[in-house]
Amino acid sequence: MSDLNAKVSATRAILERVARDYSPAVFASSLAAEDMVLTDLILKAGLPIGIFSLETGRLHKETLAVLDAVKARYGHEIAIYQPRAELVDEYVSKNGLNAFYDSVEMRKACCQVRKVEPLGRALEGKKAWITGQRRSQSTTRAELAVQEDDAAHGMQKFNPLADWLEADVWDYIRANDVPYNALHDRGYPSIGCEPCTRAIQPGEDVRAGRWWWESADSKECGLHLVDGKLIRIKSVAA
Ligand code: ADX
Ligand code: SF4
Repeated sequence: MSDLNAKVSATRAILERVARDYSPAVFASSLAAEDMVLTDLILKAGLPIGIFSLETGRLHKETLAVLDAVKARYGHEIAIYQPRAELVDEYVSKNGLNAFYDSVEMRKACCQVRKVEPLGRALEGKKAWITGQRRSQSTTRAELAVQEDDAAHGMQKFNPLADWLEADVWDYIRANDVPYNALHDRGYPSIGCEPCTRAIQPGEDVRAGRWWWESADSKECGLHLVDGKLIRIKSVAA
């Protein structure tokens, strides 16, 4: 069995285990390449795992187009969570629409309103959530475990692609003709909100285009932090 086949089998087994032992479970999709691999695996196997996306109001049109591509390809509608309008209004009227360029605090405050608060709603009442994070994506993810005890949300957190390399993701996408965000072909290996993401140059780090004005160790939006800290949460033996 090739290395990729072995990784696919292991990932399938994790997803099946989550569906069986941690129901109700949900998968958080940013609609980027890694998340399309998991979407394909979940939907083709018909696993009872809800898929949701945090639609921050600042996504690229190419990212939003992936929602339609998933519907056309799999006949499945991804659940959308949007920020609370009053919190967005408050942030914008107090700080301005693009205050996230001013300081890390302002940036985190925007992510809090547009991503973290809606994530809390998406995870309400669930026993586990799944992400598309990989260890080789960034220094902050180097220690990422497949299963973590996410005490902040009171549930288990699974990262089934933890040991996948970027090349594995693309080999899977091409082999299975999985739809993907058109920005990936234009120099965007990692995609978040439009004003906070830019294309990278060949040889640059894959996350160099995310919050590029900040230092590498602050580049997490709060979805994967505990009490605002960049520490890995306790891993659980799989
Ligand atoms: S981030 O923390 O820097 O934004 P990244 O874009 O690498 O994260 O995505 C890592 C994982 O976080 C994704 O695989 C996905 O599980 C989750 N995630 C990130 N952004 C979103 C989003 N907008 N909606 C749902 N899940 C997301
Ligand atoms: Fe706001 Fe940028 Fe965070 Fe999106 S990534 S929520 S626009 S600071």
